[in-house]
Amino acid sequence: MSILQKGGFLLGCLALSAGAQAAPPAPGQLIFQKNCQRCHGKDGRLGLNGAHDLTKSNLNTMGRTYLVTSGMGKMPSFSKTLTPAQIAQVVAYSLTLK
Ligand code: HEC
Repeated sequence: MSILQKGGFLLGCLALSAGAQAAPPAPGQLIFQKNCQRCHGKDGRLGLNGAHDLTKSNLNTMGRTYLVTSGMGKMPSFSKTLTPAQIAQVVAYSLTLK
């Protein structure tokens, strides 16, 4: 095998592993798609039924965790649907929507 071929093989492996890492969406994203998207939309901006635009929300992790756990107004409580760990993941994901 020439040096060039070896280099190509190495690069191919690197590209493959990078691709495999990017493939599964963050767990918080899946939870968001299942539980939040119908009101807040894929990008957090839908605002169905008076849902607030998540990209403009000033709430920090604590505020969002409280809101998702307890609910508010038309926003349902997720304390029975999601575990605290899942709520933490979906809150973290919601903070990435900008
Ligand atoms: C049934 C529709 C509905 C679903 C489902 C829903 N929300 Fe909401 N959400 C709302 C509404 C309505 C509000 C505004 C509540 C109010 O202030 O009265 C809101 C507000 C929020 C806010 C506060 C934004 C701000 O700064 O005021 C956050 C954060 C939020 N939702 C996150 C989520 C997350 C995360 C999920 C999924 C776990 C979710 N929501 C699921 C309807 C929904």
